[in-house]
Amino acid sequence: MNMKKLISMLLISACVFSMAACGSKDQGDKEDADKEEKQTLIMATNAEFPPYEFHEGDDIVGIDAEMAAAVAEELGMDFQIEDMAFASIIPAVDSGKADIGVAGMTVTEDRLQNVNFSDTYATATQVVIVKEGSAIAGPDDLTGKKVGVQLGTTGDIYASDIKDAQVEQYNKGFEAVQALTQEKIDAVVIDGEPAKEFVRDAEGLKILDEAFTEEEYAIAIAKDNEELLEKINGALAALKESGKLDEIVAKYIKSDAE
Ligand code: ARG
Repeated sequence: MNMKKLISMLLISACVFSMAACGSKDQGDKEDADKEEKQTLIMATNAEFPPYEFHEGDDIVGIDAEMAAAVAEELGMDFQIEDMAFASIIPAVDSGKADIGVAGMTVTEDRLQNVNFSDTYATATQVVIVKEGSAIAGPDDLTGKKVGVQLGTTGDIYASDIKDAQVEQYNKGFEAVQALTQEKIDAVVIDGEPAKEFVRDAEGLKILDEAFTEEEYAIAIAKDNEELLEKINGALAALKESGKLDEIVAKYIKSDAE
């Protein structure tokens, strides 16, 4: 018998064996099997936003990723992350493709038209990044400037209100920062924590002291899923109460570096 034949015979017998195993399970208490099958909590995100969500090798890690995994655990659910464009997150949640949107997402009146938001889990700011030595010293100096943002973010919305500014929209915040390094634009408006990460990893950039806004991050949930909203709020409260949320945040944001 040649090798190929032997392998296929082994495979067939493995299949037969596992089918038998399945079969015997089927004969068992069906209710038990149903209970074993956990539901999966699917999180939509845009993993271009350190320290909240970013790629580490093949994994998506960060505060949001760990927090949502802990929420799923609280709820006794399996957990899965779907990475997509930031602007696709709310449509994904709204259509039921994902259960929750967790993406350092700021609660805004506009978004509340399309989704519900959980209780908030972080406060944030929009800041301005410029080149060291730039004449831009505060948000007011952005008038008439070229301002880079991540498409569809609150930074994008604020920048569009700056008088005579030319807003350049990038798919990733990191790309906006790169464009600034290359002097294609004059400034970037982006959330404070990712700004710190991007500036730390780049040369010759700084964050202006004066922040643009105060905002709050929350988890987006479909409007017609009030039940999940309540469950998520319950799980979030438990994670706040137990100190688990603080622990996750401390892992990714070193407060002494502020
Ligand atoms: N906080 C901002 C917003 O809600 C930016 C969030 C960007 N998040 C991301 N994962 N890329 O618009």
